Amino acid sequence: MIRMPLRPACLICLIASVAADDNADPAAVFAQRLMPIFQSENPSSCVQCHLSGVDLKDYILPSSRDTFLSLRQRGLINTDSPEDSKILQLISMGDSDTDAKAARIHARNRQREYDAFAHWIKACCQDADLLTADPPETVSGVGPQIPLDVIRHTRTDRVLDSFVRNVWSQRMRCFPCHTPSELNPDNPLHEKPIQRHREFVEKYGQKMNIFRKTPMETMRALVAGSGRRLPNRLPLINPEEPRNSLLLQKPTARLPAKNEAGDFEKPSSQLPVSHMGGIKMHKDDHSWKAILSWIQDYSASVSNEYQSREQLPADNWYPTEHVIRVKGLPDSWPQMQPVQIFVHRWNEDAAAWEDTPVAFTQTLVTPRRLLNGTLFRLAQPPERAALNPVTETLVPGKVQLRLYLDQDNVLADSPSRLLNDRPADATATVTARFRKGFRNADIVDGVQQSSQKAGS
Ligand code: HEC
Ligand code: HEC
Repeated sequence: MIRMPLRPACLICLIASVAADDNADPAAVFAQRLMPIFQSENPSSCVQCHLSGVDLKDYILPSSRDTFLSLRQRGLINTDSPEDSKILQLISMGDSDTDAKAARIHARNRQREYDAFAHWIKACCQDADLLTADPPETVSGVGPQIPLDVIRHTRTDRVLDSFVRNVWSQRMRCFPCHTPSELNPDNPLHEKPIQRHREFVEKYGQKMNIFRKTPMETMRALVAGSGRRLPNRLPLINPEEPRNSLLLQKPTARLPAKNEAGDFEKPSSQLPVSHMGGIKMHKDDHSWKAILSWIQDYSASVSNEYQSREQLPADNWYPTEHVIRVKGLPDSWPQMQPVQIFVHRWNEDAAAWEDTPVAFTQTLVTPRRLLNGTLFRLAQPPERAALNPVTETLVPGKVQLRLYLDQDNVLADSPSRLLNDRPADATATVTARFRKGFRNADIVDGVQQSSQKAGS
């Protein structure tokens, strides 16, 4: 049962509908109450948790009779106890959402849908013919038309889990300017950062507070802030052109130019973007790749782009604080070219390197011919539930690093791609300690270049 206070205005229609119940004609109730849901341009209350792929409209066919027979056949109607029908349970799922704010936003719509279906199902269940007839074979069944894997992938809770691993996990790169909740007045080391953050908020306002108290609040604010399109300003998250999301453009942009008086000009939020925080990450580094991959996946999820299981990204990157530093790269590797590093463990029993990598990172060749990369653990499906989405760790041990230089600029067109579907360009071995932070990086000096030409 749905537990929600009835609005006074609805009492009248409730009384009217209860009074009409006894001899209600299912087709009339259908026309009056379900058709408006079917024809509505607005998404149903399912959108609270299903970004796409699932809509209450999927459960309504053009005729009352076909709809009921089809729902009954799919087990979504309980003819003995109509109020316990599965379709009503699906509609009331939103009441138990852990995201109370989302539940409130959709409450009124959901109540309307629930009442309409409850009323109509009850009327249908009083019609003996509808309880026994089979749906005509010409009728295509009710329910979503896309595979279950896609329905799961486009659910808000999965998108949020991915947000935690790929975006929220990178927020300390934006400390202290955009991370008010990480500032601790009791920590003497935070005195200066707190002051700095305060000054920025005084000057630029609440838009400084990008990272809120929780990932859920943060994701919701980013999405909401991107719905309002303003002239002269890229959206924070840009579903049409993910790379032109302000969330990526700002931290990869330089400070604004200075005017004649020596003051910074107003920072630009359209291309070319400038950032009062200066360059805080590089295009194609590991944070950029993770954030961009999330934006791409989010965008595809909201826009119904995924139709089959094969289109879904693995979405299995778990952030760690382990840093790998590789020195002595080949002279021919161009500066600022992206390189992916994959970590393969030594398998004692097979006396060989494991085929499946346990971690990877992406970084750029520095002017000093170094690579500095923070690893993402690559999780295999069975272990995922046990992993920590904010910081994972790797067990120390002997590993082979396989390096893939993006020599053909593959990443320019497919920035979230992994390059390890071909032979590596170079390898190195190290007994990795996998400690935390740049100061404790595992360092490799010198690599073996592969004789095979990459791509062949
Ligand atoms: C509060 C969030 C929430 C709302 C609102 C919601 N769902 Fe779901 N839905 C879920 C979750 C969570 C699952 C996975 C359930 C599970 O695996 O047990 C799911 C699974 C499903 C599935 C997959 C099949 C299945 O039985 O597991 C379908 C279909 C579905 N929901 C339809 C709907 C429809 C239709 C609506 C709107 C009338 C809706 N849902 C509203 C959270 C929600
Ligand atoms: C040293 C402080 C500082 C750091 C660190 C910093 N920023 Fe900023 N950022 C600013 C300031 C100041 C502004 C407001 C002026 C502007 O738009 O450039 C800003 C603006 C932004 C905006 C525009 C917000 C809006 O709604 O207009 C985004 C997005 C942004 N930063 C992203 C980031 C990200 C992501 C990081 C971390 C990877 C980061 N910044 C690191 C100082 C910083």
